Amino acid sequence: MLRKRGSLILCGTFLFITWNAILVLLLWGRPPPGQLDEPGQGQGEVAERPTNDVVGDVLRMADMFEAELEVQKNILIEIKNHRSLWEKSNKNRSKVIVPPQPVIPILVIACNRVTVKRCLDKLLQHRPSAELYPIIVSQDCGHAETAEVIRSYGNEVTHLKQPDLSDIAVRPEHKKFQGYYKISRHYHWALSQVFKTLSHSSAVIVEDDLEVAPDFFEYFRALLPLLKSDPSLWCVSAWNDNGREGYVDPGKANLLYRTDFFPGLGWMLVREVWEELEPKWPASFWDDWMRQPEQRRDRACIRPEISRTLTFGRQGVSQGQFYDRYLRYIKLNTEFVPFTKLDLSYLKEETYRENFEKEVYSAALATYEDVKQGQLKGPGPFRLQYSSKESFKMLAKNLGIMDDLKSGVPRAGYRGVVSFISRGRRIYLAPPPGWTQYDPSWS
Ligand code: UD1
Ligand code: MN
Repeated sequence: MLRKRGSLILCGTFLFITWNAILVLLLWGRPPPGQLDEPGQGQGEVAERPTNDVVGDVLRMADMFEAELEVQKNILIEIKNHRSLWEKSNKNRSKVIVPPQPVIPILVIACNRVTVKRCLDKLLQHRPSAELYPIIVSQDCGHAETAEVIRSYGNEVTHLKQPDLSDIAVRPEHKKFQGYYKISRHYHWALSQVFKTLSHSSAVIVEDDLEVAPDFFEYFRALLPLLKSDPSLWCVSAWNDNGREGYVDPGKANLLYRTDFFPGLGWMLVREVWEELEPKWPASFWDDWMRQPEQRRDRACIRPEISRTLTFGRQGVSQGQFYDRYLRYIKLNTEFVPFTKLDLSYLKEETYRENFEKEVYSAALATYEDVKQGQLKGPGPFRLQYSSKESFKMLAKNLGIMDDLKSGVPRAGYRGVVSFISRGRRIYLAPPPGWTQYDPSWS
């Protein structure tokens, strides 16, 4: 726009100067008034007329010059104004004010597995900046061999050691859960280090048996502003609980959801949430505790269609409860999605809720048999309805998605709806229209 106006002005100036030059040449080229008239007797008359003509000509010329000077003055004023505009925009361009990028530390929770190496190697491989993503490895358990692996990364990572390695007194029937108590104690200590001692304002937590995807860092950076500004969100997770091969749309690597289920497994929180949870942090089972209504308080997490973490930890505290049935099949995203350059406003609460409900409840109702046997007509999406805990569990189990509920919330669910792919069709496993709340007794 500015450029177009600039060339218009140049054109105008050129035309004006040319016009003036022609005018001056014409006036100079005019013979002196005397030469126009016949010499001799008509002198008086002739002398009369030229005198009148010269005065009139001079007056007309003076008028014209005055008008031309006025036009010229206006053009020059305009050129001057535009030059100042150009100078301003050039100035802005040279010192663009870039707001400082927030630092997002990655807290790695480690204990006694030397395979933390796989986790750290992937983090370092995909990390775009050491300054923006400091890696803090917090080690519990005092395992020397694991400590040595972590130490071998030198100052590429910060190595913290959880100081209290004592056994935790638990009631006899919880003896077998000692591990969960230690994990909880470790989380408490490590998160306090990150937020209190090191004064970070956000953090991404990664366990030592997680491998991250190429756009893991990009994903969290893109979502930090939304997490900070939207009080209906309390976490961003890299994990889709139903993210197995065949259950996600491979063409939708950029698709994100809200979920009422706290997924963990590579997740980000901000300091304010930590300060709220810290005083009541539980002695054990911290993740299920997070899923209780008193902690969650109707807040949601963002999760991806395709996981940005995979877990390789078959041997762990829960002894592979789910590992062989579900976790090992979770598909890790491979295509880099430039999340920070995408418009993520569709995730804002009201917009998201309205669009999601429209999408789900305008989908054609399908029967379990049709879904199971792949007899659905048309491209979908389809809605499969459940109306009780039993029907949810039956449908989930038979279709291959996770059938457990925590505090009434199904894994990856949003307002009771679980979205997944079955035989190439998008299915929404959904409660009847008009859903209002979860029933915590569903478990
Ligand atoms: C499961 C969850 C995990 C959660 C944990 C606690 C999955 C796949 N995993 O752990 O996200 O944190 O329950 O409810 O759902 N660790 C210690 N100290 C110990 C033992 C373990 O800090 O004494 C650390 C490990 O290094 C690891 C984390 O705790 O980072 C989880 O331990 P893991 O053995 O992987 O247990 P899961 O059964 O996967
Ligand atoms: Mn694990």
